[in-house]
Amino acid sequence: MDNSLIASHLRLQRGQRWLIDDVSLMLACGELVALIGPNGAGKSTLLRLLTGYLSAEQGECWLAGQSLTQWPARALSRRRAVMLQQTQLRFDWPVEAIVAMGRAPWGALHEAEIVREVMALTGCDDLARRHYATLSGGEQQRVQLARSLAQLWNNGAPEGWLFLDEPTSALDLYHQQQLLRLLKKLIVSGKLHVCIVLHDLNLAALWADRVLLLNNGKLVAQGTPRQVIQTDVITQWYGAEVEVRSHPGSDTPHVFLCS
Ligand SMILES: Nc1ncnc2c1ncn2[C@@H]1O[C@H](COP(=O)(O)OP(=O)(O)OP(=O)(O)O)[C@@H](O)[C@H]1O
Ligand SMILES: [Mg+2]
Repeated sequence: MDNSLIASHLRLQRGQRWLIDDVSLMLACGELVALIGPNGAGKSTLLRLLTGYLSAEQGECWLAGQSLTQWPARALSRRRAVMLQQTQLRFDWPVEAIVAMGRAPWGALHEAEIVREVMALTGCDDLARRHYATLSGGEQQRVQLARSLAQLWNNGAPEGWLFLDEPTSALDLYHQQQLLRLLKKLIVSGKLHVCIVLHDLNLAALWADRVLLLNNGKLVAQGTPRQVIQTDVITQWYGAEVEVRSHPGSDTPHVFLCS
């Protein structure tokens, strides 16, 4: 089945300002798409529109050929999961229980087994009996990733669309690498498609198949990392003084900040 996500002419207004201004895009199956752009560009807002948490004033999103607004809530929850930029929980449950929350759309069948599996994949096994509020910021992020994967778990692997809003912002270098390698492995070997908001352009350059650059609510550049992550493009849209060169170990761009 075609599992593409298509957004057509999305617009969202708050006050006098268009937070999302005529954004059209297609996220194809089996892709890792990075959404980049400066603070306030509209990345988190766009993610909410693409996942059905916000409704656009104009335009529409389709998942697998059906308008997002037409998807029954439970079926949609089985098909797409979202890890938000900040996840504040009002309750302090054991980590295992937080991850198991991801299984809510599926019922209890194989729950314990799936929870164990996603915790092992995300390096959370040692945290299972800890309480969520006592975890470090990076540990909490890994637990939220495990919960999102549990939500999409179907027949031995995650299946569907995974949207991640800055999932590496609190991770150390090792865990950043582990997360991107895991996503890539799951995409290549299965039926997972990923859209990930990243501020670290070098992570996007190394792992994304495609990069979308958002500025002031508009999609201003898109293409392969090599096409988008260029000195003049990044300088223009971020206002930062940078130099983009080639990564020494791969054929991808690498951004250096000028001092
Ligand atoms: N409810 C709202 N009312 C007014 N302005 C809003 C509202 N929600 C978001 N904004 C503004 O819309 C803009 C886009 O916000 P958004 O959170 O999508 O940015 P972002 O690209 O994710 O930024 P960051 O990189 O800092 O996470 C920001 O300027 C924000 O202040
Ligand atoms: Mg954001």
